[in-house]
Amino acid sequence: MSPSSKNLSFFFFIIIFFSFVLSATESTHSSIGITYNNRGTTHQIVPLLQYLKITSIRLPDSDPEIIRSFSYSGISLLLSIPNSLISQIASNQSEALRWLNHHVTPFYPRVHISSISVGNNVIEEAGEATLDSNQFDFLLSAMQNVRQALDELGIDKIKVSTTFSFLNVITTAFPPSSAEFQGNLAEYLMKPLLGFLSDTNSSFLINLHPYNLYRTDPEITIGFAIFQEHPFVFRDDLLTGVRYRNLFDMMVDSVLTAMASQGHENIPLIVTETGWPSSDETKDMDADHVYAELYIKGLVRHLKSGFGTPLRRDGVAETYLFELVDDDTKDSAQPRHHWGIMYPNMTMKYDIDFSGSVGMFDMSMMALGIWLLAVMLLW
Ligand SMILES: *[C@@H]1O[C@H](CO)[C@@H](O)[C@H](O)[C@H]1NC(C)=O
Ligand SMILES: *[C@@H]1O[C@H](CO)[C@@H](O)[C@H](O)[C@H]1NC(C)=O
Ligand SMILES: *[C@@H]1O[C@H](CO)[C@@H](O)[C@H](O)[C@H]1NC(C)=O
Repeated sequence: MSPSSKNLSFFFFIIIFFSFVLSATESTHSSIGITYNNRGTTHQIVPLLQYLKITSIRLPDSDPEIIRSFSYSGISLLLSIPNSLISQIASNQSEALRWLNHHVTPFYPRVHISSISVGNNVIEEAGEATLDSNQFDFLLSAMQNVRQALDELGIDKIKVSTTFSFLNVITTAFPPSSAEFQGNLAEYLMKPLLGFLSDTNSSFLINLHPYNLYRTDPEITIGFAIFQEHPFVFRDDLLTGVRYRNLFDMMVDSVLTAMASQGHENIPLIVTETGWPSSDETKDMDADHVYAELYIKGLVRHLKSGFGTPLRRDGVAETYLFELVDDDTKDSAQPRHHWGIMYPNMTMKYDIDFSGSVGMFDMSMMALGIWLLAVMLLW
């Protein structure tokens, strides 16, 4: 081997090595999970997720038998404590311990539990009906009691948070830089709650549905809502000069702005629900199979690109699609949307690749760039 070809193979080695390092770090960005509401055939869920290569699941019902079925599965779980238990847990720490003794200690760590959400969408429309601060105190006390109970059990890896809903807590997404928490939430709830999340290294959890915002704002185009990137599909935030190409990023950055306005810029964000219904019972034109498929595929592609959002390079920490299986319960009072990526008979609606490796195109372009640089240096 001549010296220069030796150098060349060394550079090749470096390029390959860096490609590996990059893909390893990129893949830690924005993992994609899914919400599962105990529908369909529950015993098939673990092999199904393994087959789909989905590595995290959110269980709003947190049924102990389903939690048990995830033993040694390599899938991580986000559990929820029902809203109805919050006031009890807030006033009596033994109640927190009791819940953990039914849902966590019998299975942990054979089952990998990443977080516990104390309630789901506890704050409804705070902007309109101004809530009394008692209700806020309950929520935070319950979270503190669950945290303390976990600490007493010597479990520090499971994080404690609560789940909000975008439309109920954030003022606006247009432009993201002017977003705030609604009404008196900022002062009475979010300030201490964000302090708790920051002190305990926990994440802010939010249900974020571009579909719902799209339906309330006639100025949003369908292409912008469902990731149809096109030179003329964008909205500019005139205050920051940032250009947005999809509604999801705009909503995420609105949440980040609201948190930053309370002095917390670095708390990780987890999108606990996002999806698009393929049909609904009121014959809503926008609940459409084609739109739903484009939204979900566009979202997966966007999250895997590793580009994050304009305000946060790393993007959201995790995103849970909503949801695994369609709701076909017969006794629902509200007209049902069909949000599932599967029908109730457990067949897939769309052909989605969750495993696709991250931004391969960008990675190979980068490797090519480094290689060209190497060749130039050698010459
Ligand atoms: C707190 O909860 C425990 C266990 O659920 C119960 O035994 C105890 O009586 C409760 N304490 C109060 C003050 O309600
Ligand atoms: C939070 O994370 C930081 C850095 O990873 C670590 O130093 C700190 O001990 C963690 N705090 C808690 C309460 O887990
Ligand atoms: C499952 O249900 C869907 C929608 O009702 C239907 O189109 C499909 O053929 C069914 N698949 C099987 C295997 O029964």
